[in-house]
Amino acid sequence: MATNRTFTMIKPDGVANDHIGAILNDITKGGFKIIALKYTKLTAENAGEFYAVHKGRPFYNDLVTFMTSGPIVAAILEKDNAVEDFRKLIGATDPTKADAGTIRNKYAKSIEANTVHGSDSDENAAIEGNFFFSQFERF
Ligand code: PPS
Repeated sequence: MATNRTFTMIKPDGVANDHIGAILNDITKGGFKIIALKYTKLTAENAGEFYAVHKGRPFYNDLVTFMTSGPIVAAILEKDNAVEDFRKLIGATDPTKADAGTIRNKYAKSIEANTVHGSDSDENAAIEGNFFFSQFERF
């Protein structure tokens, strides 16, 4: 995957609260092209593997349980400086600390139900995109 891409999920709270359309609109208005898009639901095994880097942290089990609590939307996004710019668009992990106008500021209710995921590096964006999409789905 090129380094001008990032990976995102609209988490179960964003889907359950009917924010899919508004969030995708914020993403495209923010200058990102949607390269791949999928509505799906994680199993405990999927979520455990996706978040394996956080295994052992106090919130790990809760995070895996939350991420399997309902459907999610996964997407690969393209833009210059995608990883950094997308993390600015979504705001801080804790929505009470997210800047006004960011996606988490607008839609998220808690540090757990924080509505969206954004990759934290080009390397992880590629790994995470490959986790959800086959080579035929991310051309
Ligand atoms: S770090 O240290 O920067 O890697 O951690 P951070 O990016 O803040 O968080 C990593 C993911 O864990 C989620 N998280 C939590 N979930 C539940 N409860 C608590 N307290 C909590 N703290 C962090 C956070 O939403 C991140 O998920 P993703 O999907 O990566 O956004």
